[in-house]
Amino acid sequence: MATLSLENVTYTYKNAQKAAVLGVSCRFEEGKVYAIVGPSGSGKSTLLSLLAGLDLPTDGEVAFDGESLVGLDLDRYRRESISMIFQAFHLFPLLTVLENVCFPMELCGVAPKDARPRAEALLEGVGITKEQMGRFPSKLSGGERQRVAIARSLASNARIILGDEPTGNLDGANTQNIIDILCSLAHEKGYCVIIVTHDMEVAEAADVALRMRDGELRLA
Ligand SMILES: Nc1ncnc2c1ncn2[C@@H]1O[C@H](COP(=O)(O)OP(=O)(O)OP(=O)(O)O)[C@@H](O)[C@H]1O
Ligand SMILES: [Mg+2]
Repeated sequence: MATLSLENVTYTYKNAQKAAVLGVSCRFEEGKVYAIVGPSGSGKSTLLSLLAGLDLPTDGEVAFDGESLVGLDLDRYRRESISMIFQAFHLFPLLTVLENVCFPMELCGVAPKDARPRAEALLEGVGITKEQMGRFPSKLSGGERQRVAIARSLASNARIILGDEPTGNLDGANTQNIIDILCSLAHEKGYCVIIVTHDMEVAEAADVALRMRDGELRLA
């Protein structure tokens, strides 16, 4: 069964002249990495927010495991089924790096004594040192913050990872590391990974490359 499917989905922002997403039908399956490329303003971030249940389609249907998002408890869906890596990182400024990664796990009921070692392992996996884990996000570089945001998104057990330019601030080595992490989550653990990217390295590493243009989605 497809994890996420879109059936003829259109989304038009209030007061907008034309649709940001136009008649998109697509199935996103478990165990695969999808890359979505396309020019600025073509509707990529809008498509991700529809997949995340942050917006509901103006027309058509988004379904998770065959069930329309309209009938789901969307807060729960977002908390338990979706991890999102945003274009802006949305780290909590008054929590340390380590606390930023522990916090969503604790929200989902993981005991602090279990959350901490898991957060440390995730942060080490993206190349953040023990010393950096004790800092506030404002005391990190842009690329380091981005890696913390990625570690945080991996902390939940959500099966779907949505990334909006997750490697946008990273150099070649760190980009490759994130690609390796996302590919192994999909291929070894069965996650469904959907990434919007301008990075050709990421698009080439994906199992399926898609292109958006004027709100329409096609195989690249
Ligand atoms: N809140 C909003 N209200 C009205 N129009 C919006 C809003 N957000 C986005 N749009 C418009 O919808 C279209 C698609 O925007 P979207 O952010 O999805 O593009 P994108 O492909 O993610 O672009 P980028 O690569 O620059 O991030 C654009 O024309 C944009 O101006
Ligand atoms: Mg965007």
